[in-house]
Amino acid sequence: KEVTAFAPATVANVSCGFDILGFAIDELGDRVTVRHAEESRLKVTKITGDGGKLPYEVERNTCTVAVQAMLKALGYTGGMDISLDKGLPLGSGMGSSAASSVAALIAANRLLNDPFTKDDLLPFAMLAEKIACGAAHADNVAPSLLGGFVLIRSYHPLDVTALHVPKGLHCTLIHPHMELNTADSRSVLRKQVSLQNATIQSGNIAGLVAGLYQENMGLISRSLQDVIAEPSRSVLIPGYEEIKEAIKEAGALGCGISGSGPTIFILSPDRDIAAEVKTISQKVFDKIGLDVDLYVSEIN
Ligand code: HSE
Repeated sequence: KEVTAFAPATVANVSCGFDILGFAIDELGDRVTVRHAEESRLKVTKITGDGGKLPYEVERNTCTVAVQAMLKALGYTGGMDISLDKGLPLGSGMGSSAASSVAALIAANRLLNDPFTKDDLLPFAMLAEKIACGAAHADNVAPSLLGGFVLIRSYHPLDVTALHVPKGLHCTLIHPHMELNTADSRSVLRKQVSLQNATIQSGNIAGLVAGLYQENMGLISRSLQDVIAEPSRSVLIPGYEEIKEAIKEAGALGCGISGSGPTIFILSPDRDIAAEVKTISQKVFDKIGLDVDLYVSEIN
């Protein structure tokens, strides 16, 4: 018996929600296939789509790190073979490592007839994030696992909740062809936040969540501001300021860095505006002379 599972790309932070907000993207993602093995061990048997960059070692691969933690919690001593088909580019800011570990957990859990709920699987996926980038953040793994728009209200204890999403809310993603390692883009962040910026950021997080529930696109738009991570990170992303300016005319709600970058996300109130934003963004990057991939996804 074998099971294949898919897990989607995600946009973490969503501007103001550093490490606490994230949403899932349609269609883009990773696929993992899991089989029972004769021997009592985990093994990565095949990885495709990664350009040979991902490790096969059980202690370093995010799929096996997550599944190993799950099997340990279950007291399961049988073995599994795991193969990974990467649909997501590495170091893109689209939750690539999270999609792999989440797909592996869903497949392994199903192979064992679902002993865990999706919520139960979350801590195992967070362990894999720790291996991938040094921090057990959940803002990619939680939406990849649960879908939709997710808030991590607290890490200790873990308290994760799904948020309401207004009908029509769409996201355009611009993925410039360059890699940014999450550990590196976390290392550029300042360790201290001023009282003034804490107040601004709290207002925006509350405004964004209220805007989602009120289906108030204006409030969502005004709340898409980040005074904590964006100032240190945007300088690493070519075209960021140009995009911010260019999307205003199209009627987009705002933009931000997807996770730790370099992907840029832009929110729009409907599919047509999101598509227009895609066209405008392509032109901006044509001018800069940097290749990009562009996607449009509904958030739901
Ligand atoms: N919240 C994380 C960060 C997301 O910004 O470092 C990484 O994708």
